[in-house]
Amino acid sequence: MRRKIVAGNWKMNKTPAEATVLVAALREALDGLSSVDVAICPPFTALPAAAEALRGSAIGLGAQNVHWEAAGAFTGEIAAPMLVELGVRYAIVGHSERRQFFGETDATVNRRARAALGAGLIPIVCVGETIQEREADQTRAVLERQVRAGLEGLSGDDWDRLVIAYEPVWAIGTGRTASDAQAQDAHAFIRGLLRSLAGPDAAGRIRIQYGGSMKPGNAAGLLAQPDIDGGLIGGASLAADDFAAIVRGGA
Ligand code: PGA
Repeated sequence: MRRKIVAGNWKMNKTPAEATVLVAALREALDGLSSVDVAICPPFTALPAAAEALRGSAIGLGAQNVHWEAAGAFTGEIAAPMLVELGVRYAIVGHSERRQFFGETDATVNRRARAALGAGLIPIVCVGETIQEREADQTRAVLERQVRAGLEGLSGDDWDRLVIAYEPVWAIGTGRTASDAQAQDAHAFIRGLLRSLAGPDAAGRIRIQYGGSMKPGNAAGLLAQPDIDGGLIGGASLAADDFAAIVRGGA
C-alpha cells in the first residue's frame, strides 16, 4: 500500500514574511493528520523562513527546481547542497512551466533529477501532455518519452525515493481537471512504463501524484483511483483550508 503524498507548489508566490503566515495556518489546518505525507514547495527566497516556521512539524519542505551541478558558474541557478543545508527534502523538476517558459528539456530534467537523488533529495519529476498533444492522440507517446528520458540512468534505491507527478498541461491553472478516469488511465500507463524500467516491485512502490486544478471538490475522487497516490497542488495550495481539505481527501 503506497502512502499518499500531497505537495503544494507555491510557484512564484509568497515573500518570506507571507510564507511564515501561511505555514502557521497550514500547521493549524493539518493538525492531527498523519496518514498522508505532506510537503510545501515555496520559492527559494522563502525556504529559510518556511523551514523555521515548520520546525517540529511533519510537513516536508521542497524546492521548485534544482541544478545538476553542485556549484559553479550557473547564474540564477540553485544547487542541491544549498537546498539540503536549508532542510529541504523534495525538489520539483521538469514542471511544465519550466519546460514551456524556461527551455527545460527531457535531458535537463534527467540531469536535475539525478543530481537531486545524488544529494539525498526526493525529486518530484513532472510529466504531462499539452492539449494539442492530447487532441492529436499523442498523450501516451509524450508520457513515454518524458518518463523514459527523464528517468534515464536511475538505478537501485533511486526508484524508492522518486515521486512522479502527472500534470496534464491543459489542466494546470485552468480550472479544467482531468476526469478521474482520464487521470487513472494516464497513471496506470505511467506505472506500466515504470514496471519495464524499474521492475514490478519498485514500480508498485513509486508514488505518482496527479496535478492540475486539484481542489477540495475533486480531490477525493481523484485520490480514490488505484494508481493516483497524491497530488501536486498549485493555486489551491495557497489557501490553508483548501490545501488541508485536499490532504484530507487522501486520508
Ligand atoms: P494548479 O497547478 O493546481 O494551479 O492547476 C498545479 C501545478 O502546476 O503543479
